[in-house]
Amino acid sequence: MKIDLIVGTRPNFVKIASLVHSLHFTNSPIKYRIIHTGQHYDDQLSQSFFDQLEISKPDINLKVGSGSQAEQTAAIMVAYEKILKEKKPDFCLVVGDVTSSMACAVTAKKSLVKVIHVEAGIRSMDWEMPEEVNRVLIDSIADSLFTTTPEATQFLLENGKTKNQVFFVGNTMIDTLLKFQSKFRQPEIWNHLALKKSNYFILTLHRPSNVDELKSLKLLISEILKNAQGLPVIFPIHPRTAKILKEVKFSFSDLYIIEPLSYLEFNYMVANSKAIITDSGGITEEATVLGIPCFTLRNTTERPETITIGTNELIGTNPKNIKPAMEKLFDGNWKKGSIPAKWDGKTGDRIIKILEGL
Ligand code: UD1
Repeated sequence: MKIDLIVGTRPNFVKIASLVHSLHFTNSPIKYRIIHTGQHYDDQLSQSFFDQLEISKPDINLKVGSGSQAEQTAAIMVAYEKILKEKKPDFCLVVGDVTSSMACAVTAKKSLVKVIHVEAGIRSMDWEMPEEVNRVLIDSIADSLFTTTPEATQFLLENGKTKNQVFFVGNTMIDTLLKFQSKFRQPEIWNHLALKKSNYFILTLHRPSNVDELKSLKLLISEILKNAQGLPVIFPIHPRTAKILKEVKFSFSDLYIIEPLSYLEFNYMVANSKAIITDSGGITEEATVLGIPCFTLRNTTERPETITIGTNELIGTNPKNIKPAMEKLFDGNWKKGSIPAKWDGKTGDRIIKILEGL
């Protein structure tokens, strides 16, 4: 069996790493090619993940780079179709909900290659997110679907998929987190600021709805700083957000805007923080497993289990909501949370076993 493993952005590398490791450690007969679309191309967002997560270099890089949603989608489709014309695999496996995953899934399906979706069946019901459109498109054409929760499986079964197509296997992102937890390492900023455990916040923001409007972004950041009781707020900044904040000067001495961190350094910082404040989806899952309080600055989530079971709370995008959330945290009233079923580090092995039987 031959399979294309598609990656393009930071979260994809983390999820695919689990599958690549499982393929090796189980001595699987499945042959694979890693296809990198090039959606993320900066070293800190791409190459450093391959190095740290011990994934071999991509077999093919489509090098599409930046562009609008349509430009990226089109460029990936054209480039991947060429690859498929030269050599067709039996399956195209995509993870998550980014543009690269959707563009390759659609191209593969139209080239009569079966599509596998890992992290299927989750929905925010927020159609303003490009990721929601991508999820719906990928799930609708996928032949085999692997889910992170029983609820996602149930959703797919109620929406036209059959029992022999959908498998509840757990979370590949958590496989990688658990595998590399003992290798997390202090970034330079730790010593530079003499940071201490549970004595600083980590902030990440990159969703267009939060960062593309400068005025509301500034308000949100200001409100966080005003309520952080003087603890440092470390903000590893995504290129999208960096472009917007380029000209802005904040007057807060406790805000530290730094370059994106590598995987091992970022998770070291999360694991030792007082709390993480984020608009990412994947980070809410990692925070849940690390047992770190997580504020999600979004109005919806496609990962409700991080709230009902984990340490995450949906704070929303209204800056007014920051103060009560901070008070709850500082008063020691944040929930402890536990870990969702099958988020146990063995998801990659489960997926490979099922793939071998397809
Ligand atoms: C993408 C995903 C998002 C994911 C995020 C992780 C989609 C629709 N969105 O969002 O789901 O959470 O990745 O980071 O696929 N840029 C660089 N260097 C890079 C890559 C991008 O400077 O290596 C710049 C681009 O020029 C662009 C901006 O960052 O201006 C956004 O990049 P893009 O890949 O389009 O989307 P993300 O916001 O990263």
